[in-house]
Amino acid sequence: MSHKIVAANWKMNGSLDLVKELTGEIKAQLAKLDNGVKVVIIPPALYLRDVHREIGSGFELGVQNVSQWEDGAVTGELSAAMAADVGASYVLIGHSERRQLFGETDEVVSEKVAKALAHGLSPLVCVGETLDERDAGHAVDVVCGQVEKALAGIGPDDWKNIVVAYEPVWAIGTGKTATAEDAQRMHREIRDLLARLGAPADTVPLLYGGSVKPDNAAELFAQPDIDGGLIGGASLKADDFVRICQSA
Ligand code: 13P
Repeated sequence: MSHKIVAANWKMNGSLDLVKELTGEIKAQLAKLDNGVKVVIIPPALYLRDVHREIGSGFELGVQNVSQWEDGAVTGELSAAMAADVGASYVLIGHSERRQLFGETDEVVSEKVAKALAHGLSPLVCVGETLDERDAGHAVDVVCGQVEKALAGIGPDDWKNIVVAYEPVWAIGTGKTATAEDAQRMHREIRDLLARLGAPADTVPLLYGGSVKPDNAAELFAQPDIDGGLIGGASLKADDFVRICQSA
């Protein structure tokens, strides 16, 4: 029985029509899947309720971001309490697109992790190095630094709700995947770091993201420290996403 997690990050894609079509197909095809994989759908927050209604039980839902603030005069933001209220159980925090396009710092990431935990959401903490950082030989330092800062403030009881996603920035949306060996090596580094931080490291799911496709998923998921995937582009094609879930 698989204990893997496969999460679909739809990013800023879709429409009510696509939600209906994609969710319907995923539901129909995955209903027959009995490999135990946990499937998390992370649509744009505006469509979360529609996905919820369409997909029914058997799936987990997430949002792509929450505010670091509790509530109030923060125009345009969505709170962790709201995400939990409408049925999300996961939240992506610190995705590289948020770090790069919205200037999210490690400090903000750690505030968001705390806020998510306070409202019963599982933070899916995204970390990853750029190509320049990798070429300079700093990948492990960058990634481990991001993990450590994101999780600095959490309590001993919070580890059971934490998921970490390693997404090398150069592999996101580029068709370039880390080799299974490279991904495994980084996941091992992250797991060793979690142990040093006092986590029950073997039980914290570590997902790989970055150009995961049906033809490379199985090899990635076969690695001992890769506990599943965070899927972007391929999660918008029902057949591809279903095949990735079948590989888990
Ligand atoms: P792609 O699968 O499109 O490379 O995106 C990965 C990602 O950013 C998931 O969060």
